[in-house]
Amino acid sequence: DETTARRKDAHLDLCATGDVEPAQNSTLLEHVHLIHCAMPEMAVEDVDLSTPFLGKRLQAPLLVTGMTGGTDRAGVVNRDLALLAERHGLAFGVGSQRAMSEDSARAASYAVRDVAPTVALLGNIGLYQAIGLGVDGVRRLMDAIGADGMALHLNAGQELTQPEGDRDFRGGYRVVEELSRAFGDRLLVKETGCGIGPDVARRLVELGVRNVDVSGLGGTSWVRVEQLRAAGPQAQVGAEFSGWGIPTAAAIASVRKAVGPEVRLVASGGVRGGLESAKVLALGADLAGMALPLFRAQQQGGLPAAEEALKVILTGLRQALVLTGSRSVAQLRQRPRVLTGALKDWLAAL
Ligand code: FNR
Repeated sequence: DETTARRKDAHLDLCATGDVEPAQNSTLLEHVHLIHCAMPEMAVEDVDLSTPFLGKRLQAPLLVTGMTGGTDRAGVVNRDLALLAERHGLAFGVGSQRAMSEDSARAASYAVRDVAPTVALLGNIGLYQAIGLGVDGVRRLMDAIGADGMALHLNAGQELTQPEGDRDFRGGYRVVEELSRAFGDRLLVKETGCGIGPDVARRLVELGVRNVDVSGLGGTSWVRVEQLRAAGPQAQVGAEFSGWGIPTAAAIASVRKAVGPEVRLVASGGVRGGLESAKVLALGADLAGMALPLFRAQQQGGLPAAEEALKVILTGLRQALVLTGSRSVAQLRQRPRVLTGALKDWLAAL
């Protein structure tokens, strides 16, 4: 309905210019040190970043994670960033399709296939909306935009900070089981900045889930976004919890250890550059995911600015592989690395 769309535009405004990445939060990627190789014995063009995802082949292991849809402004964001992903062979996700499930007139703002005919495309819906829609309803959302897969987002932290948000989180695994039976390896389960830890990941994989985006702490905080929209006690509790979550570096390393190599893992949440992308790939991610940096670049300067930002990321990622003497992500993973400080403490507990 109208309120869903209005809330979405308020979210976009806050994410475009607001303080939605609390400075005290950290991915803990600063505690990951890749080791310099002074004699790489390779050329930049020897780096092969191609990666399978959702039955397609990406040119680089990057996913523009789901952000938006439902309004004209959101439609421009989706089309600019989907076109960018198409040009550079990345994967792209639209944001929550709740608005189009409530009002089909909003579907056009999620339609990107005319500008991104071959991109690996993910639809998106919240776990608790999926309960209401059922398997068939979720499949209709995926098919309506010609997506290759469906992202199911988890956001308990955000909901609890949102005055109108959900308060009952029962029955989630049952829906995941139904969806994973119906969608197989077309289903991806993601958090939204508070992180998926090894226990939840293991249980998801036991239910058949084959793609997980840990989306950890250290980047966009949806608790903070809702805190900035809330008033009174809700805002105070939001402030208290805006650093809540599993830091992205701790989430990806511990989840990879918990689930084994056949599960496709995305690491998002505060990943901001090519070197940080290389770090999450070294820790076990198959893809690095990013939302806010590309969104902000697009808001500031449209597609050209987003493309400039992406080029910096891709150049940095290739440079990280060359400087560790790695021709591929598989080789990068085999290189030694140093983990220090708080990340070591997290990994000792997880
Ligand atoms: C998001 N995110 C998000 N996730 C999701 O599954 N459905 C959604 O509709 C949205 N909406 C959304 C809007 C905007 C403007 C942003 C910045 C983010 C969450 C996103 O996919 C990602 O999980 C987190 O933002 C963490 O990544 P970054 O932003 O730190 O790179």
